[in-house]
Amino acid sequence: MTTNENGSYKGKVAFVTGAASGIGRATALAFAREGASVSVADVSEPGKQETARMIEDLGGQAIAVRCDVTRAEDVKAALDKTVEAFGRLDFAFNNAGIEPKQAAPTAEYEEEEWNRIIDIDLRGVFLCMKHEIPLILKQGRGAIVNTSSGAGIIGIKSSPAYTAAKHGVIGLTKAAALDYASQNIRVNAVCPGYIDTPMMGRFTGGTDEGRAKVFAEEPVGRMGKPEEIAEAVLWLCSDAAAFVVGHAMVIDGGQTVQ
Ligand code: NAI
Repeated sequence: MTTNENGSYKGKVAFVTGAASGIGRATALAFAREGASVSVADVSEPGKQETARMIEDLGGQAIAVRCDVTRAEDVKAALDKTVEAFGRLDFAFNNAGIEPKQAAPTAEYEEEEWNRIIDIDLRGVFLCMKHEIPLILKQGRGAIVNTSSGAGIIGIKSSPAYTAAKHGVIGLTKAAALDYASQNIRVNAVCPGYIDTPMMGRFTGGTDEGRAKVFAEEPVGRMGKPEEIAEAVLWLCSDAAAFVVGHAMVIDGGQTVQ
């Protein structure tokens, strides 16, 4: 596993949004396994409590914090609670996101659905970084990883809002990376392919047929595991990635290579 200056993530603090489920939960657990204290932020009450419990079962330290990433006051309060509990902030994984309810060509796309997706998947990442960065600056160094998608790299037919939001996350990541590179905060993004999470279960309908369609789009013939994204996030936060700035790392089994 990747290491930081003291050989692990011990004594470090990570804030993870969307940590009640899927990729966020796997990453929260990975940070904890490597010794970090983790702030488990989500809108899902039972899910975030469950992730915190899973971390404590591993012998790790966690707090579950309510955080709707579209509400600046929630984000700020969640970060304040994190620093109150653990004394500092070193890493943030801005991962909370939703999939579209609607598939429709751009001219037929509902404005309300556009706003909903952009609000959570793009503006939420901005709000989180806006309030995380001043706290990380206090440590003198740290790293942020934002969750984009294959939809941040290629266009997805009949998905204008999600495609725009996830492309936007990459642009935002690059701008913030340039703003803070000289102050020792590295900002990068991950672009997962099809990952086997509850979100993907809703997308495939959980049927063998739905899953088979997704496998067929993946050159490796399977979905990714949330843990495979978690490994990339931990690496991006580690000193091994000290020269990696403003990068959008694609982890997708080759899906967007085709
Ligand atoms: P998931 O649905 O399993 O987990 C998403 C979590 O985000 C849930 O716990 C949910 O409660 C939380 N959330 C939703 N809205 C929120 C809000 N306003 N504030 C705080 N938390 C909120 O989804 P999954 O698959 O783990 O996705 C995580 C991220 O990865 C998302 O940004 C998604 O767009 C992205 N992604 C997922 C892929 C996949 O195949 N599963 C592929 C590419 C990107």
